[in-house]
Amino acid sequence: MKSSRRKKKTIIFPESGDERVLNAVKKILKEKAAKVVLIDNGSNDLKKLSDNKDLLIIDSEFSSQFLKEFHKLRSAKKKDQKISQSEKEINDPLTFGCMLLKNNYADGLIAGSFYSTSAVLRNAISIIGTARNCNSVSSFFLFTFPEKHIHSKKILAYADCGVIPYPDANQLSDIAVSTSENFRKLTGIVPKVAFLSFSTKGSAESDALNKITEAVKLTKRRKPKLISDGELQFDAAFNKEVAGRKDPDGIIKGEANVFIFPDLNSGNIAYKITERIGEAFATGPVLQGLSKPVMDLSRGCSAEDIFNMSLIISNI
Ligand SMILES: CC(C)(COP(=O)(O)OP(=O)(O)OC[C@H]1O[C@@H](n2cnc3c(N)ncnc32)[C@H](O)[C@@H]1OP(=O)(O)O)[C@@H](O)C(=O)NCCC(=O)NCCS
Repeated sequence: MKSSRRKKKTIIFPESGDERVLNAVKKILKEKAAKVVLIDNGSNDLKKLSDNKDLLIIDSEFSSQFLKEFHKLRSAKKKDQKISQSEKEINDPLTFGCMLLKNNYADGLIAGSFYSTSAVLRNAISIIGTARNCNSVSSFFLFTFPEKHIHSKKILAYADCGVIPYPDANQLSDIAVSTSENFRKLTGIVPKVAFLSFSTKGSAESDALNKITEAVKLTKRRKPKLISDGELQFDAAFNKEVAGRKDPDGIIKGEANVFIFPDLNSGNIAYKITERIGEAFATGPVLQGLSKPVMDLSRGCSAEDIFNMSLIISNI
């Protein structure tokens, strides 16, 4: 990953009762990788963290400051929402953490060692909201390869592998634009985006292709300078010889590095095959499309995984 030369980012961790989170926080502070905001849920472990100018511990009672704003947000979606219900909800560290992020107490938030993916996503979507010019929250994985691997010099991105089960053409285009922007920020490499399919430029006929060809058109219209093309089979997108035969006039020329999958089934299956059979190192899922970065952890994550997510927030 490209090293960050930007100002140190501030990251909120709502799950301060988790030992893995605290170990990651200790490493972040030791390596001066970011500033940290921890939400104090009464855990004694927080007292063990030494004083550090880059660490802010916020008492969960401070959430009452945001009750009015939060209740307004909830009532806009649910007319009969009672203030007592909003009070209960905002006491939840994840919800409170998202309100802190919305109110500029930090640049990003990392959660999911305890909370489920859908809890992280629902809070992030409903409180933080989507980024400008993007209506879809999605996710991507970055892949690197071991030194002796045939693709050791490559870095690839796959999306969406974790959020939108059946993306339509607009959502596929959002996924492509977000992933290409983040790929460039994290790697410094020019993205070449392939919209994947079982067909290459009309080699097959099926209604299943319509949303993919529509997404290609939309993306080219939205981002004319972005190198993007489709529909393409994986081999035509990834291999120069096959591209020469199947798509001789295409702009990708077998050099795609950002792969957009037609749905969550294919994206999720492909990332696991790439990891398990392709022996690639997978980083992610990295959430994208939110107006401020929120990262979702796997509940089986290690302190090292949490630390790596903080590096991603620092770089996007
Ligand atoms: C993201 C997710 C939590 C949304 O579920 P949900 O809350 O039931 O979604 P709903 O369709 O009821 O939508 C609720 C609101 O969120 C919005 N929304 C839902 N998914 C969204 C997305 N990906 N991007 C932006 N907005 C989204 C909807 O537009 C709706 O907004 P509105 O209230 O203004 O109308 C759900 O799709 C999910 O759990 N995805 C993850 C899939 C998964 O299990 N992944 C695990 C690994 S593969």
